[in-house]
Amino acid sequence: MSRILVIDDDQGVRESIERMLRGAGYTVQSAGSGEEGLTLARGNAFDVILSDMRMSGISGIDVLQKLRERRVDSAFIVMTGFGTVDTAVEAMKLGAVDFVQKPFFRDELLMRVRSAADRRQLARQVDLLQRQIRTGGSLDALIGESEAMRRVKDLVVRAAAAPGTVLITGETGTGKELVARALHAESPRADKPYVALNCAALTDSLLENELFGHARGAFTGAAAARAGLIEHAHGGTVFLDEIGTMPSGLQAKLLRALESGEVRRIGENEARHVDVRFLAATNADLQQAVTSGAFRSDLFYRLNVHRIHLPPLRERGGDVDLFLDYFLQRCRVGTDVTGYSDAARAALVAYDYPGNVRQLEHIVQRAVAVSRDPLIDPADLPEELFASRTADAQAYAADGSVAAARERAEREMIVATLAKNRGEIAAAARELQVSRTTLWRLMKKHRITADVRAD
Ligand SMILES: Nc1ncnc2c1ncn2[C@@H]1O[C@H](COP(=O)(O)OP(=O)(O)OP(=O)(O)O)[C@@H](O)[C@H]1O
Ligand SMILES: [Mg+2]
Repeated sequence: MSRILVIDDDQGVRESIERMLRGAGYTVQSAGSGEEGLTLARGNAFDVILSDMRMSGISGIDVLQKLRERRVDSAFIVMTGFGTVDTAVEAMKLGAVDFVQKPFFRDELLMRVRSAADRRQLARQVDLLQRQIRTGGSLDALIGESEAMRRVKDLVVRAAAAPGTVLITGETGTGKELVARALHAESPRADKPYVALNCAALTDSLLENELFGHARGAFTGAAAARAGLIEHAHGGTVFLDEIGTMPSGLQAKLLRALESGEVRRIGENEARHVDVRFLAATNADLQQAVTSGAFRSDLFYRLNVHRIHLPPLRERGGDVDLFLDYFLQRCRVGTDVTGYSDAARAALVAYDYPGNVRQLEHIVQRAVAVSRDPLIDPADLPEELFASRTADAQAYAADGSVAAARERAEREMIVATLAKNRGEIAAAARELQVSRTTLWRLMKKHRITADVRAD
C-alpha cells in the first residue's frame, strides 16, 4: 500500500487527515512543520506528500522547491486555504500534481490522494521497465542452439528489418519479452524509444490512459494534459504484453491507431500522428479468443503480420544443457558452487519444465542458494523434478533401455533392502550407502510406501 506524508502546522487538521488516510488503508506519517517534513521526506520514502501551503516557518512552496532540488519524486499535493488559488497555481508550476482547497470533504481528499498514489506507482513501474530495457536486449541475449531456436533467431532478424507488427506467441516463460527487446534492438529503430506495457497489469481505464494519454480536465484528477506511452515511443517501438487481456473497447481504439498511425488522447478531438512499430505478445490462444468473440478478428490479423512462436523448452533438445550452464555461471558468483553432480544434471535434463526457461532459471538460482557443497546434488532440487521422473520411469517400464533397466534395478534393490531391515530407514540407508534423506527421496521417486516396506 502507498505511503503518505502529511505536513500541516495545525495539529487538529493534521490528525484528522491522518485518521482519514489510515482508515483508507494507507501508511501515514505526519510532520508539524515544513522543516520536519523535509527531514522525513529524505530518501524518497513516500509515494504522496500532502502539504499545507501557509505554515509558520518554511512554507509549502519552499518544501516543494527543496524536494525538487533534491530530486525527491514523490507526488506532491498542496492544500490551500480559501481564496489562495494563486499559490496553488504556483505550486502546480513547480510540479505539484494536484491541489485541494480547505475546507475539503473526506471523499474529495481521498480521491485526489488515490489518484496521485496510483500514478506514482505507475511511474515507478514504467521506470523499472525502462531500466530493465536499457540493460539488455539483443539477439545475443537469446540463448539456444537447437533447430527450433535457430529458426526463432532467423525470424527475429527478418522481422526486425521489415515493417509491420509482430505477434509473439508461446507458453509462459519461453522468452517472449526477450524476443520483443531483441526485435527492437535489431531494428532500424534501435536508438529510438522502446516502451513496454503489460496489458494485464492495469485496470481498463488506467490502461487506456497509459497508452493514449489525456487532455487536461478529461476526467477528475486530470489536472494537466499528458501524452500516452504510444506518443512517447514516437520513432520507436511499443511492446504490448499479454495483449489477449485487452478489453474490447480498447481493442477498437488500438485498431484505429494501427490503421491510421494516429492516436487520440482521452478527452481530445483531434488526433496526433505517431510513427511507432507495435509488437504484441500473448501466452493465450488468440485464435481461440477470436473464435469465441473475446478478441477482435480484424485486430488479430492486423497484429499477426509477422508471427514468431516460441516453442516450449521441452521441445528444444540440447538447449536445456546450455541453459543449465548459462544460469549457473550467472548465479554462482560469490558462492562456492562450481557445477552439478551427475545425478543432479540427469534429473535437470530429464525434467519437462512446464514453466519453461523462467522455471529452469529459478530452479538453478534456488539450488545455488541452498547447496552446501561445490556440486549441486539432487537434494538441492525441488521435488517436482522427481515426481516427473517417476512418470518417466513408469513410461520406461515397458522399454528395454539402459535407463529403464537402471530405474527398475534401483527400485528393486531399495525394496529388498528395506524388507530385510524391516522397514528401518536408518539401517537400510547404511546398507545402501546413502544418507537417510537420499533414501527418503528415492522412496518417494519410486513411490515406495510403508506397505511395500513391510513386505
Ligand atoms: N532464449 C533465452 N535466452 C536467455 N534467457 C532466456 C531465454 N528465454 C527466456 N529467458 C529468460 O527466462 C525468463 C522468462 O523470459 P520472458 O520473461 O521473456 O518470458 P515470457 O515468454 O515473456 O513469459 P510470460 O508469458 O510468463 O510473460 C527471463 O528471465 C528471460 O531472461
Ligand atoms: Mg512476458
